[in-house]
Amino acid sequence: MDLPWYSLLVPLFFFLFFLIQCFFTTSSNQKKLPPSPTKLPIIGNLHQLGSLPHRSLHKLSKKYGPVMLLHLGSKPVLVASSVEAAREIMKTHDLVCSSRPKSSFADKLFYGSRDVGFSPYGEYWRQIKSIVVLHLLNNRRVQSYRDIREEETSNMIDKIRQECGSSSSVIDLRDHFCFLTCNIISRVALGRKYDEGEGGMNAKVTLDELGELFGTFNIGDYIPLLEWVNKLTGLDTKMEKVAKSLDTFLECVIEEHIIKNNKGEYSTGEAKDFVDVLLEVQNGKETGFPLQRDSLKAIILDIFSGGTDTTYTALEWVMTELLMHPRAMEKLQNEVRGLAQGKAEITEDDLGYMQYLKAVIKESLRLHPPIPLLVPRESIEDIKLLGYQIPAKTGVIINAWSIGRDPLSWENPEEYRPERFLNSNIDVKGLNFELIPFGAGRRGCPGTGFAIVVIELALARIVHKFNLALPKGEELDMTECTGLTIRRISPMLAVATPCSSYY
Ligand code: HEM
Repeated sequence: MDLPWYSLLVPLFFFLFFLIQCFFTTSSNQKKLPPSPTKLPIIGNLHQLGSLPHRSLHKLSKKYGPVMLLHLGSKPVLVASSVEAAREIMKTHDLVCSSRPKSSFADKLFYGSRDVGFSPYGEYWRQIKSIVVLHLLNNRRVQSYRDIREEETSNMIDKIRQECGSSSSVIDLRDHFCFLTCNIISRVALGRKYDEGEGGMNAKVTLDELGELFGTFNIGDYIPLLEWVNKLTGLDTKMEKVAKSLDTFLECVIEEHIIKNNKGEYSTGEAKDFVDVLLEVQNGKETGFPLQRDSLKAIILDIFSGGTDTTYTALEWVMTELLMHPRAMEKLQNEVRGLAQGKAEITEDDLGYMQYLKAVIKESLRLHPPIPLLVPRESIEDIKLLGYQIPAKTGVIINAWSIGRDPLSWENPEEYRPERFLNSNIDVKGLNFELIPFGAGRRGCPGTGFAIVVIELALARIVHKFNLALPKGEELDMTECTGLTIRRISPMLAVATPCSSYY
């Protein structure tokens, strides 16, 4: 049967329509996404994170490039492992990448994520971040706590000396560093130290539990269908218990301040602690908006948990590297002792002259950023990043550990060589994206200045007063723990010998 020629028009029309559809989808609508490792159904790439995700992601980035798109359960997550990618995220697209992903951990422990660190980007976060930056952690206020830092560091030195007696002893420096930072932050933030059991809790134990929860993998955040697993494993109950005990403690601290204020025993001027300042802000006197009680507690908890763990972990890594590099230790001691010039005690005035001390700290933070995968962010709009389309609501992880070891930025990156910072302007303040232990941009750490001066003073005083070495015949076990803040698993053992000529 012969068909008329026009009967071919209908299939031809459909064929052309199909071609045009394909063409336009490829050229304009289909997004060029970053390369992704193969994912599994439901869990996506979760199985590729391992127990030390900063190292696993570093390895994956060698294969898939410095910008990768992973799927952690149902959540798309961009992983950045190069200076350029970090700069794009924290500078070029800082505004769009300044939110934080929802976390049930933060919702339960930080009063519905009303703290600075976990709060999503928006007016509320802008207001509380400005309170923290302008009222709590500005340069003048950080300076004003100098006496507290000097006193607590002296206490630490005395305790180490008591432990040593007059000879050499093996001591665990972790406890000393931990108590030092915990005591300083207690006094600065809460007005005094809280001893065991006071306020219904042992501050250190509960903070340790909080730190442990920080590091616990919460399946429900990635695969909402499996949220019930947290009930089964007891994680939900544990979070509730820790949240309750933290709340009891914070309520006790706030009530104590209110009673003191009602009695007219105000702390004045720079002597105010953070709770004093926040109670003033709570009345809207300073900022023009009232701060709810839960927000106040969330901010205090943020400072406590964000400031303690990180600072003593950084101190530990500096000491670890110095013990493994006795020549760097000797050079540092020569600098500190030379500048101390027979003085009984190093003060904060001396720190400005200690260039090698600063270099030693930067080099340790380069190799061991305490939070190797910076606190996760989330994009709030679609963006184009280094040629790739990144859809809104994509999680963003920046691998500061990997960036600190990038051979494109650092010569012999695995080598510990503080000298590389001696004639360099590279700093940790968030302007140099090759060194970002404190993050950068709007979400950058507001406690950088606070942390650095604690680390500098503690380190200068300890190497001034003691000779320190690895216990005989021992090598440091460098195996790292899991969690948000990464330190070595093994204790921080060192042989400390009081140096009589400096007492
Ligand atoms: C060596 C010590 C410290 C390290 C390595 C560190 C590191 C960090 C990092 C990586 C972030 C996330 C930055 C980003 O997303 O770009 C952060 C945020 C934060 N840090 Fe620190 N930190 C330290 C000490 C402190 C101290 C002493 C305080 C307070 C006294 C503090 C308070 C905070 C707060 C409130 C945030 C949340 C900022 C926001 O989300 O807007 N940190 N820190």
